[in-house]
Amino acid sequence: MESIMNKQIIAVVGATGAQGGGLARAMLSEASAEFSVRAITRRPDGAKAVRLRELGAEIAVADLDDAASLRRAFEGADGVFCVTNFWEHGSADRELVQARNLANAARACKVSHVVWSTLEDTRESAASAGLPTLEGRYKVPHFDAKGEADRSFADLPTTYLLAAFYWENFIHFGLGPKPDASGELSLTLPLGGAKLPGVAAEDIGRSALGVFRNGKYEVGRRIPACGDQLTGPEMCDALSRALQRRVRYHEIAPAAFRALGFPGADDLGNMFEYQAASETEFCAARSPALTRRLHSDVLNFASWLRSNKTALLPSERAA
Ligand SMILES: NC(=O)c1ccc[n+]([C@@H]2O[C@H](COP(=O)([O-])OP(=O)(O)OC[C@H]3O[C@@H](n4cnc5c(N)ncnc54)[C@H](OP(=O)(O)O)[C@@H]3O)[C@@H](O)[C@H]2O)c1
Repeated sequence: MESIMNKQIIAVVGATGAQGGGLARAMLSEASAEFSVRAITRRPDGAKAVRLRELGAEIAVADLDDAASLRRAFEGADGVFCVTNFWEHGSADRELVQARNLANAARACKVSHVVWSTLEDTRESAASAGLPTLEGRYKVPHFDAKGEADRSFADLPTTYLLAAFYWENFIHFGLGPKPDASGELSLTLPLGGAKLPGVAAEDIGRSALGVFRNGKYEVGRRIPACGDQLTGPEMCDALSRALQRRVRYHEIAPAAFRALGFPGADDLGNMFEYQAASETEFCAARSPALTRRLHSDVLNFASWLRSNKTALLPSERAA
């Protein structure tokens, strides 16, 4: 599957975002330059697209809601990286249609390798049975639609990439340590005593690069992008060491987390409850050792903290 100049063309959906951006940057910085990046965006003049063009990417315009635009963007590509962004619209039904548009475009363009960034359909597990139903037919909407979409990729040469919880959620998603009334930092999550598999967002794309490098050997496999698996208290120990300040773990019940009321609180509350109830299988599917097979330098939590601790400190964030 060699293309012009002996480089494989990889069309990267979400190239201006965390997952696709990590892959695009990793491919563009490759000394061996075995891949040529076609970065897909709706905003070719946006700062992130412009930066990718400067780094050597070709820019293609497509919208996940517009099947014809995806077919045009995938035309002539050897491989495609497919990701959907549930959080932009919050509709699992819409995410499912977007994922099917991606699979159909990859099929129409006869691409040789698809990496589909998916998650479990939690409805297939007994662990989700007691959870409140959301959006009419989902348990963990941002997981379930991706998992249901796996069927659309099943007849394609697909590798299924399972991204763990981004540690950047502690910085950008409001889930990080916060000061209590006495000023002491605490991390409040409904982990139920279970380990939380986590990853540095940039490592997801780097793991996907390892998949594309191995090519057909990874087709049909489920590959995790995960750097560490830690309980709440273990994360707090690492946070305390990195921040040089005590960070206490505060367990909150999933129902109380769902009731916090921010957009997606019910979805995330269900996600944490599902993860705790299915801890053995959930963690086995996200083994850091499996990730290291394709991306040997994947960061663990302590290493990620070394470069991100300043952004975690609420006082410095507010300053
Ligand atoms: N946060 C976590 O812990 C976590 C863990 C596992 C999985 N995930 C999943 O990760 C996904 C988000 O990926 P991310 O973090 O890489 O997203 P992100 O950083 O927010 O970036 C979103 C990307 O998707 C593109 N995009 C969104 N809607 C599009 C559309 N309609 N047409 C074309 N491109 C579109 C955007 O491109 P333009 O705006 O340039 O067009 C952008 O590049 C979510 O579905 C989430 O469930 C998240």
